[in-house]
Amino acid sequence: MTSRLEETFYGQDFISVNQIKDRETVDELFDSAYEMEQAVAAHEVGDVLAGHAIPIIFYQPSTRTALSFLYAAKRLGAYSEAMHDMTFSSAAKGESLPDSIRAIQNVTSASAIVLRHPDDNSSQEAAYYADVPIINAGSGKREHPTQALLDLLTIHARRETLDNLKIALVGDLLYGRTVKSLALLLSRAGQNNQFTFVSAPQLRLPNEFLADLPNGTQFSQTENIQDALDADVLYMTRTQREWFEKEGKLDEYEELRAKLMLTKEMAQQMPEDSVIMHPLPRQEELRYGVDENPRAAYFDQMKYGLYMRMAILKAILVKG
Ligand code: CP
Repeated sequence: MTSRLEETFYGQDFISVNQIKDRETVDELFDSAYEMEQAVAAHEVGDVLAGHAIPIIFYQPSTRTALSFLYAAKRLGAYSEAMHDMTFSSAAKGESLPDSIRAIQNVTSASAIVLRHPDDNSSQEAAYYADVPIINAGSGKREHPTQALLDLLTIHARRETLDNLKIALVGDLLYGRTVKSLALLLSRAGQNNQFTFVSAPQLRLPNEFLADLPNGTQFSQTENIQDALDADVLYMTRTQREWFEKEGKLDEYEELRAKLMLTKEMAQQMPEDSVIMHPLPRQEELRYGVDENPRAAYFDQMKYGLYMRMAILKAILVKG
């Protein structure tokens, strides 16, 4: 019988968390990711992706996502290289994304392509032109689906559930894509969760995004981070300077960048079993003094990123 994981992922693009329809798929991915964790620890991963080529193409900067995909692919036996200085690619000569994607696919004989790009619809556009699966590693201000899955895995590893949680998403909710993918995925995969969206009024989640949340999603909005210190999961994000710069609003960035900050003292007020997360990189919103707090899970998120991306690559490229 075909598993939900196979139905959802095998041979498919992974563009959006909306492709994940149920908890069963998430649980099967978790099982695979936990198996990857054990196999990595035992140095016994094997080579299920031997013979596959997986180019990793980033039009925006990255440390975590690019490297974890690269090492996920290599640990599973695939050929993989990351191209993330696009000033040395033909994009710098004006090549379009559709042409670049077809070039990348053909010169590498790719089995799948991992793509990060500043346009919201970039992964969809690439998928239209590519003959192999496109894996969205961050598109514009809207989607970062593999980050959402590793975030869920981190919550599950710490709390052993995805249900009945108070989740506060804090910071730049307008430009940030991690918070949007996480809210969409968790509102579908979990049950009876309550979201608090914490941001300056200028950086609120767009109304059209709120309208896309599943019916019955419980949420409130506030400007005050103190309102969120009773959360089970506090997910901090940075104010995204690059988008303010692109829109000629650097003065507004300077005004907003440090409005919402989590200090060591504030973190100590949170419930003992709460989890503090951040997709990273951080600016001043997450003080270094929080790092020693046992609630801090943001360095664990990166480890789970490797295991989750190994599970995703395997699910897309290996049947059964
Ligand atoms: N969380 C995240 O996407 O980090 P990078 O930009 O370093 O990949």
